Amino acid sequence: MAETFHTVILFGATGDLAHRMLFPSLYNLFADRLLPDDIAIIASGRSEMTDAAFRADIAKSLPGFLGEGRHDAETADAFLARIRYCPVSVGKAADFTRLADMVGPARDKGVAVYLSTPPSLFAPVAKGLGEAGLAGAHVRIAMEKPIGQDLASSRAVNDGVNAVFAEDQVFRVDHYLGKETVQNLLVLRFGNMLFEPLWNAGAIEHVQITVAETVGLEGRVSYYDGVGALKDMVQNHMLQLLALVAMEPPASMSPASVRDEKVKILRSLRAMDAADAQRHSVRGQYDAGAVGGQPVKGYAEELGQDSATETFVAVKAFIDNWRWKNVPFYLRTGKRMPERRSEILVQFRPVPHSIFSGNGKPAALRPNTMIISIQPEENIRLLVMAKQPGLDRDGIELREVALDVSLSTSAAGQRRRIAYERLLLDLLEGDPTLFVRRDEVEAAWTWIDSIHAAWAGAQVETRHYTAGTWGPSAAIALIERDGASWHD
Ligand code: BG6
Repeated sequence: MAETFHTVILFGATGDLAHRMLFPSLYNLFADRLLPDDIAIIASGRSEMTDAAFRADIAKSLPGFLGEGRHDAETADAFLARIRYCPVSVGKAADFTRLADMVGPARDKGVAVYLSTPPSLFAPVAKGLGEAGLAGAHVRIAMEKPIGQDLASSRAVNDGVNAVFAEDQVFRVDHYLGKETVQNLLVLRFGNMLFEPLWNAGAIEHVQITVAETVGLEGRVSYYDGVGALKDMVQNHMLQLLALVAMEPPASMSPASVRDEKVKILRSLRAMDAADAQRHSVRGQYDAGAVGGQPVKGYAEELGQDSATETFVAVKAFIDNWRWKNVPFYLRTGKRMPERRSEILVQFRPVPHSIFSGNGKPAALRPNTMIISIQPEENIRLLVMAKQPGLDRDGIELREVALDVSLSTSAAGQRRRIAYERLLLDLLEGDPTLFVRRDEVEAAWTWIDSIHAAWAGAQVETRHYTAGTWGPSAAIALIERDGASWHD
C-alpha cells in the first residue's frame, strides 16, 4: 500500500454532503487514529469565512451525524484544530494560488482533493489546481457523482479532469461501494464454493435489485428535476450492484482485475429500443400520500410545478454473455416507497423433478431464493425446502425455512462504519479498487442513454403512484407478466 497522504482538500465543504458524511467520516478515521497525526484538512467553499467560523459550523453539526457514543469533546477539539478554511472562486487563479500556499511544503507528503461540488465545476477546479501546481504525482482527485448527464457530457467532464490528472490519480466515488454488505458480495461469491457453480443461467431464473427510499425530494429541487431516478440511482449505484452480482471471478483483488470484470458486465448490458422500453421499463412519479404514517406532498407540489421527471423506475435488463443469457435482472428504485430497503434477490430455478407428494397431490416445492439485504439490515437469507415435522402417513409435507445470517449480529461489537470512511481512507492510501473507472462510467451511460432515447422514441409516459406505495401498478405487471413477483 502506498503511504497515506497528509493533506485533504475538500471542495464543497459548506455543503450538505460534507456536513452529513465527509466530516463525520474524517472525524471517525481521526478518532480511530487511522489518519496521520499531522493531517491537514483544508475546507474550501465559495463564501468568505474564517477558520474559526467554519470550525464552529462543523462543531455544531458533527455530533448529530456520528454514530452512537462516538462524539468525544476532546477528540473533536483536536480534530477541528486540523481544519482550515480557504475560500475559492472557481476561475480565479489567485484563489488557487492561495490554496497551494496554504498546503505549503506538505504538498510533497501527498494531497487528496475531494470534489463535492456540482459536476460542472470538476473540470474548472482540476484546471485551477493544475495551474497552481497542485496536480503532480503527489496529488489524487476524487469526484462525487453524477459524472455528467449522459455519455457525451460525462466524456466532457472526464476529458477536462484527465487533461490535468492521469486516470490513476482520479478516484470516482460511488458511495454504495463503500457499504460493507456491498463489498461482502465479492466475498460471498468468491470466498465460498457453495454458490459459484450455480451462479449462472442454468440455475438462476432471475435477479431482482431493489433500492427503495422513503425520502422525497429533500429540497434538492435544482439538482433532481430533469435528472430523475434512472440517472440518479440506476446509472451508478444500481449498475454497480448489478456488476458485482454478475461479474466473472476476477483473477485477484487488484484494482485492475476487479474493475476489468465489472466493465465487461456493463458493456454486455443489452441496449433498449423503443419496443423494449414499452415492455421492459416503467417510469413513475409520486403523488401525495403517506409514508410511515405521516402525510407527504406529491413531487409536483414539492417542486412547485408539473414535471415528467421520474422518481421511480423499474427496468428489466439483460446481460448478453454466456453466463447470463436470457436471465432477467429486474431493477427497481423509487422515492417515497413504504420503507427504506436495498436488497438483491437471486431466484433459483425449480428442481428438475419433484419426488414429493402428500394427500395424493404433488407437494408444494418452492425454488430456492437468496436475499442479500444491504440496508437498513445487513443480512443474507437463503430460503430452502425442509420437511414438516410428523409421521408423513399421507406423504411428505414440505415447508420453506430460512437460513439466516445477520451480518451485524455475527460481527457484534464492530462499529458499522459510514461508507465514506472506507472510501476516504482508500483515497488517502491510494487504493482505487472501490472507485469507478472512466470506462465503467462510460459503459453505464451508454446503456442509460439507450433507455432515455427509447423513452423519448416510444413516448413512454411517467405514471403516477401514491407516496407510500411500491410504485405504479405497471411495475408490478412488468415482473408478473413473467410469472414472478417483487419481493415486498
Ligand atoms: C444518492 C442519490 O446518490 O444516493 C440520492 O443522489 C439518494 O437521491 C442517495 O437518496 C441514496 O443513498 P443511501 O446511501 O441513503 O441509500
